[in-house]
Amino acid sequence: MDWGMENRLAQIINPKTGHTVMLAVDHGYFQGPTSGLEEPGKTIAPLLPYADALMPTRGVLRECVDPHTQTTMVLRVSGGNSMARVDELSDEVITTTIEDAICLNAAAVAVSVYVGSPHQKQTLQNLSDVVNQAIKYGMPVLAVTAVGKDLVRDDRYLSLSCRIAAELGANMVKTYYCEGFENVVRGCPVPIVMAGGKKIPEKDALTLTLNAIQGGAKGVDMGRNIFRSEAPVAMIKAVRTIVHDKASVDEAFDVFNSEKVK
Ligand code: 5RP
Repeated sequence: MDWGMENRLAQIINPKTGHTVMLAVDHGYFQGPTSGLEEPGKTIAPLLPYADALMPTRGVLRECVDPHTQTTMVLRVSGGNSMARVDELSDEVITTTIEDAICLNAAAVAVSVYVGSPHQKQTLQNLSDVVNQAIKYGMPVLAVTAVGKDLVRDDRYLSLSCRIAAELGANMVKTYYCEGFENVVRGCPVPIVMAGGKKIPEKDALTLTLNAIQGGAKGVDMGRNIFRSEAPVAMIKAVRTIVHDKASVDEAFDVFNSEKVK
């Protein structure tokens, strides 16, 4: 592997543990000021020291994130859709150039793909175009397997999406947890990180995290289950104990409960 590519991946996936806790805060790119991210800077600042990598858009990165941070950035570079057109969610384009990602010192760029959706081909073309550019600079590409309306998030569908993303050159894939998650991991030759999905009770989100790690995920790229938690910092610390320290769900939940009263 090219040195730059390997070095950037090592900034995201901790070489000592082989795992990563990424904090996803990119939701506003199509959801606007969604709950928990109304004022992104206030949400992000206390969580930033506990994330191995932050996943924002360039607008939030420039305006709301301390440039002196030591936390690695994985920059979302696809968009163009919105909640005002839920029938057209898969209609994404590339919004941010590789040059701007380099300017922002991103360690990787993230692109959504919508396999099985009306704009499947366009989003797979987006991924391919970004890989073609990024590879010249040793910049890893994270493919995000977005799931269109009416598509079932089962292992068959997610295996299809993750494998296609890897075949087109993604260096990492972000996908959802499902029954048979190990089949998704087995069929995907690049590291997988789990998206947290909609907010669920903290202990359930920790269980989901453990299941994903035991199923072969290299970590999480979690958003709502951290920043919408009643105690976001306690939650990210608890997630870290599972991802990096092999904690059980009960041990991690104890961390959450003891940290939330601090
Ligand atoms: C949608 C996205 C997100 O906006 C986000 O990263 C999802 O994170 P979470 O499900 O944990 O809130 O990638 O496709």
